Amino acid sequence: MNLTITPNYTALSIMAARLIAQLVKAKPDCNLGLATGRTPIGVYAELVRMHREEGLSFKRVRSFNLDEYYELQPNHPQAYRRYMNEHLFNRIDIAPQNTHIPDGTIDFERVYSHCADYERAIDDAGGIDLQVLGIGKSGHVGLNEPGSTAESRTRLITLEPVTRLDAAGDFLGIDNVPTRALSMGVGTIMRAKRIILLATGVHKASVVARALRGPVSTEIPATFLQEHPAVEVLLDREAAGALLA
Ligand code: PGA
Repeated sequence: MNLTITPNYTALSIMAARLIAQLVKAKPDCNLGLATGRTPIGVYAELVRMHREEGLSFKRVRSFNLDEYYELQPNHPQAYRRYMNEHLFNRIDIAPQNTHIPDGTIDFERVYSHCADYERAIDDAGGIDLQVLGIGKSGHVGLNEPGSTAESRTRLITLEPVTRLDAAGDFLGIDNVPTRALSMGVGTIMRAKRIILLATGVHKASVVARALRGPVSTEIPATFLQEHPAVEVLLDREAAGALLA
């Protein structure tokens, strides 16, 4: 893994956006794997700026998001579809039909086939060229909570209490946080050609150290990234704190 420690959140966001922009310029029909959460908000803001001020075009880009809460309507304030539309898709020239996010409203009986279709859509597009990832306190990437295997694929998963607790503020109470989500698997993520892992803030320092330096294990699914040949890890100083200690 290639590790860069940036001075602050802005620098990290700009660096990640530049890596994405370089790919989009070199391969205008690339497939981006995208993440939600607080961490990539600055990256998307910088991509929007590059689109507006520098003419960076996403016309032929296809995107595949990691995950979506199960049983949230796409326009729910906390739905990842809404997040992506508001932070990125509505502000750039990507074609709406080229943006893919698991459908959190799919009937339970159709979840399995929907997840299989999601995997097939990624494969049919030629695979993910660059996957953006955050990391959760539980050690998840995407929403692959502890216990997720290296081979796991897009599926319905149950969220860890710590993951729901982290989201409780946004949902105005933990009872409003969904208990399940659809998420790409670790195996789906590992098939991406390149990966950028982002983490900021002191609250991520401990899990970042375990993910990057700890034994590879389903207990911390992010540890599987140690076995990927092309991972760029971008941290701010706070998130890197336990690595430097
Ligand atoms: P965050 O979430 O960016 O909101 O910290 C990261 C994650 O849970 O993957």
